Amino acid sequence: MKGVAILFLIALFFLISLRYKIGADKIEFVTPANFPKPVYDFSKNPLTEEGFQLGRNLFYDPILSRDSTISCASCHLQFTGFAHVDHEVSHGIEGRKGFRNVPPLINLAWNKFFHWDGGVNNLEVQGINPVTHPNEMDNTLDEIILRLQNSDKYQQLFIAAYGDDEVTTSRIFKSITQFVVALVSSNSKYDQVKREENGVTFTVQEKNGYRLFKNHCASCHTEPLFTNDFFASNGLALDSNYLDYGRFTITQNEADKYLFKIPTLRNIEYTYPYMHDGRFTTLKEVLNYYNGLSHDVEYLSKQLKKPINFSENEIKDLLAFLLTLTDKTFLFDKRFFYPK
Ligand code: HEC
Ligand code: HEC
Repeated sequence: MKGVAILFLIALFFLISLRYKIGADKIEFVTPANFPKPVYDFSKNPLTEEGFQLGRNLFYDPILSRDSTISCASCHLQFTGFAHVDHEVSHGIEGRKGFRNVPPLINLAWNKFFHWDGGVNNLEVQGINPVTHPNEMDNTLDEIILRLQNSDKYQQLFIAAYGDDEVTTSRIFKSITQFVVALVSSNSKYDQVKREENGVTFTVQEKNGYRLFKNHCASCHTEPLFTNDFFASNGLALDSNYLDYGRFTITQNEADKYLFKIPTLRNIEYTYPYMHDGRFTTLKEVLNYYNGLSHDVEYLSKQLKKPINFSENEIKDLLAFLLTLTDKTFLFDKRFFYPK
C-alpha cells in the first residue's frame, strides 16, 4: 500500500514538473573566439532560456504599441540585420515618421552607447524609448503592464522566466534585453578567415580591399566589431530636413556638433539605407562619398584627414571586402525568428 502511495506521489511530482518546470534554464553567453570580452554586465540580468524566449515574444509582439500595429520587429527586421530598409528614417504608429534611420541590432553586448547620438547608455532602459515615443509605439508602461497581465500567454511566459506571473517594467525590459544581447553576428567570411576555419581564405580582391580598409577605415570602424563604440564625424553636411547635430543634442558641447555614433559595418550589405538619416542607398554611393571627401570640412574627424584617392578598381576591392562581413548564419538564425 505504502509502495503504491510513493509511486503515486512520484508520478504526480513528475506530471507537475512537466507542467511547471521548476526554475528557468540558465544559458551561457558565448564570446566568439576572435572577439573581446563583452561590455554588457550579465551578472545583473542572468540569461535563461525562458527569459530569452519571453524577450523574443515581446520583441515580435505589436501588443506593445498603442493600437497594436507595431512591434520592435516592424522596424528591426532580422533579414536586414535588424535594421529597416524600406525607409530613410523610421516609420512608427499610423505611419508617423521619426527623424533617424533605424540602426541594425548587431553585437550590442559590446556597446556602451546606444542611438546615433549615444543618448542611451543602458540597454535595459533603451526599450522604454520606442514603446513610449509618440512617433514609434506611442504607448504607456502602465497600459503595457495591464495588457500583459491580462494575457494567458504572457502569464505562462512570465512564470516560466521568473517563477511567478508578476509583470513589471524591469522584467519586461530585462527579458527584451536578453533577446537583444543574443543578437551576435560572428560567422561572416571575415570571421572564418580570421579564425582560420575550414581553410577559408580571402580572394586577391578581398585582400586588397582589406588592406585599404585597414589604412583608411579601421581607426573608426575597428575590428572585430567594426566600430570603436565612439563618436566621430565622417564629414557629412547637416541635413536640411532634420537639422540633426548628433552627439551635441545630448551633451550641448560645441565640440560634439556633427558627431554620430560610429556604426558597425557587419552585414553592411543588407542594412541600407546608410548614415543616420539614410541619405545613401548603396554602398557604392558611400564609397564614392568617402573618396570625394573634402578636407575643408572643419568638423571632420582627424582620422579622415589623410587623403583618400581610390581608383575605380580599389573601390571594387573595398566593396568586395565589405561583403565579407555578411553573416548568413546570423541573418537566418532560426533562434531569432518570429516565435511560433
Ligand atoms: C518605429 C520604428 C522603431 C520601433 C518600433 C523600434 N525601434 Fe529601435 N530604433 C529605431 C530608431 C530610429 C533607432 C535610432 C534612434 C536614435 O538614434 O535616436 C532605434 C534604436 C534602437 C536601439 C539602439 C541601437 C544602437 O546601435 O544604438 C536598440 C537596442 C533598439 N532600437 C531596440 C528596439 C526594441 C527592443 C524595440 C521594441 C521595444 C524597438 N527598438 C522598437 C526605430 C524603432
Ligand atoms: C572618423 C571616423 C570614420 C572613418 C575613418 C570612417 N568612417 Fe565610416 N562612418 C563614420 C561615422 C561617424 C558614420 C555615421 C555617420 C552618420 O550617420 O552621420 C559612418 C558611417 C559609415 C557607413 C554607413 C553605415 C550605416 O549603417 O549607415 C559606411 C558603410 C561606412 N561608414 C564605411 C566606411 C568606410 C568604407 C571607410 C573607409 C573608407 C570609413 N567608413 C571610414 C565614421 C568613420
